[in-house]
Amino acid sequence: MKKDDEQRIKDLLGKMTVQEKIGQLHQSGPSIVGAFNVDLEEAINMVYDGRISKAKFDEMMSSENQDYHENDLREGKIGSYNGVSDAKTIYRLQKIAVEESRLGIPLLFGYDVLHGFRTITPIPLGESCAWDPDLWERTARMSADEATSAGINMTYAPMVDVSKDARWGRISEGAGEDTLLACIYGVSKVRGFQTDDLARKDALAACVKHFAAYGACESGRDYNRVDMSMQKLFEEYLPPYEACVKAGSRGVMSAFTDLNGLPCTVNRWLLTEILRDDWGFTGMVISDAGAIAECVIHGISEDKANASLQAIKAGVDVDMISGAYAENIESLIESGVLDIQVLDRAVMNVLQVKSDLNLFDDPYQTGEEREKKAMLTIDNRKLALEAAVKSMVLLKNDGILPLKKDMRIGIVGSLATNSGEMTGTWAIKAQGNDCVSILDACIKRGINHIYFDNPGETGNEDVDVFIVAVGESKIHSGEAASRANIDLSQENIGTVKQLAETGKPVIAVMFNGRPLSIPRLCEDVSAILEAWHPGVEAGNAILDLLFGIENPSGKLTTTFPHAAGQCPVYYDHINTPRPAGSSKYTSKYLDIPSLPVFPFGYGLSYTSYSYSDLQVKRCNEGISVSIKVENTGKRQGEEIVQCYIRDLAAKRVRPVKRLVDFIRINLEPGEIKNVNFHIVSEKTGYYDWDMKFTKGDGKVEVSAGGCSNDCLSKIIYI
Ligand code: BGC
Repeated sequence: MKKDDEQRIKDLLGKMTVQEKIGQLHQSGPSIVGAFNVDLEEAINMVYDGRISKAKFDEMMSSENQDYHENDLREGKIGSYNGVSDAKTIYRLQKIAVEESRLGIPLLFGYDVLHGFRTITPIPLGESCAWDPDLWERTARMSADEATSAGINMTYAPMVDVSKDARWGRISEGAGEDTLLACIYGVSKVRGFQTDDLARKDALAACVKHFAAYGACESGRDYNRVDMSMQKLFEEYLPPYEACVKAGSRGVMSAFTDLNGLPCTVNRWLLTEILRDDWGFTGMVISDAGAIAECVIHGISEDKANASLQAIKAGVDVDMISGAYAENIESLIESGVLDIQVLDRAVMNVLQVKSDLNLFDDPYQTGEEREKKAMLTIDNRKLALEAAVKSMVLLKNDGILPLKKDMRIGIVGSLATNSGEMTGTWAIKAQGNDCVSILDACIKRGINHIYFDNPGETGNEDVDVFIVAVGESKIHSGEAASRANIDLSQENIGTVKQLAETGKPVIAVMFNGRPLSIPRLCEDVSAILEAWHPGVEAGNAILDLLFGIENPSGKLTTTFPHAAGQCPVYYDHINTPRPAGSSKYTSKYLDIPSLPVFPFGYGLSYTSYSYSDLQVKRCNEGISVSIKVENTGKRQGEEIVQCYIRDLAAKRVRPVKRLVDFIRINLEPGEIKNVNFHIVSEKTGYYDWDMKFTKGDGKVEVSAGGCSNDCLSKIIYI
């Protein structure tokens, strides 16, 4: 922190009343007013269960119909807003804060910008399948530019909750099941959002979430308990948050859930000892929405006053929306149960972030002019297309793909026409009309096609191949969207069966926010393209891949199970003393195969690669690995080369494979590249029974290849 900034914050703090201090910790949000008379949650429920249309919802959400609690703002009782997202309103509110409140402290505007602001890119789970840190950073930069042009200062992203459970709807918001991938994904996002100079007008503060281990909620049911060993927590779940903090994320959001019995919202060990004392975090901690008040429901506080006391003492600086701090902190101070220094520390953290964002000197940062120019530019669309192409994973191809230009295509399934469905979860500013559906792209490109509303009619038409869009609607993943059944819908299954019966080749394009269980689909169709919820350029990316204008290169970052009953299922499992085998007393299910339908790291291409000459050597600071990769096919491609290790005789049971490095490389036909990895000793390490970090020694297996289940391996002693 610069010396004069520090002094400014101290001086300001000295002038603030207790009420004004509490104001800095209170995050407000617009509430819907006027003829509608409902709150935001109820409004969302109304769209969800079909009582109102999306258009009606948008009308309710328009800034004229919102109450921004402006009198409280004038009185210095609001420090930040969540959910305001247009330059005009943000300018107006900021002006009230700066010019009409006693101390003129600028507001901070937070928003969920997870995968694009207006230019929506693939959902994070999809984008993670690109295994491309440079892309992850560029898409974050683009969304930061758009969001800041609307006046937003902080995004509640990246979400780096490692999740190994396809039932959990929020698996869609993160980078999949692997810790290393989540670390690299998170760091790229933080860099992209913030740049190395947060004072820039187009820099957006990151707020990494949901601290900690939200992705491990029991049985994949949202908000459910998280209970895990310390070893697992430190090895698999904490590293991505730590990496983002160390990359400079100025915000951290605590999780709704409890961790080993203590809600993260009141967990001092997590929010202060680990986060600040061990990792050196100096930014602000914000609760998840309403989470402080919910500590009462959670059964950890008898009332909101006690919940506020516990949360602020644990290290939650800002109360997102619950109002508990605003209602209770003053009396907690007056009665002497809360030390004013605890309040001051929290206020300083908030002021510090505002100062880092240069809000004291430049509170407005944008205007409607910039906002108009920034959104959905040609370059942004181009980047969204690149991201969508790289995110899609070709799961099956019996040779039907790439399609030939002059083929007559039959298109089936409402997801092929519904452009609004392409945005996926947490795309609040998305507009359905911005998105290109498969059908839109076919029309625009003049492709010889016919769309069938009724799959029953498909037998009567003369087509060469069917493209069927299957999967789940965007509201079936994301927050509060867990599923106990992750099969395709009966309707999808019926449609595919009807198409298969025509005898024509069928290509399935999947739109989904989680791995679905599709063993049957794999048998019934000729090809499957996993498109996720791909964003504004959906249809263009899909046609580019299906027609071979682009070569598929994405690889799965999440395992595809046979059935929900197998969840959680993931590549870095332990061996058990009795690995699945043909004899009875082995670790398996009786009614499904032991291996998943598609493993972590899997994805096909229109070319082929061969791996050879794996060299593994001990070196000064770890292990050096090299492997030759050859493009043995006829077209250029990008291959994702993966490197794994396994400790075969450790002090604790270790995963059968653990990703330690990866790289995306370009190969022309016939080209051979030598890929080198350097595995530093920290990466071979783990926590022993006594929670001491050991670097690992003895017999280790090192593997490298194009998929977690298809690698060359060598044993080495380290
Ligand atoms: C979600 C967070 C989000 C917050 C603010 C909560 O319901 O859990 O991920 O950032 O809302 O919108």
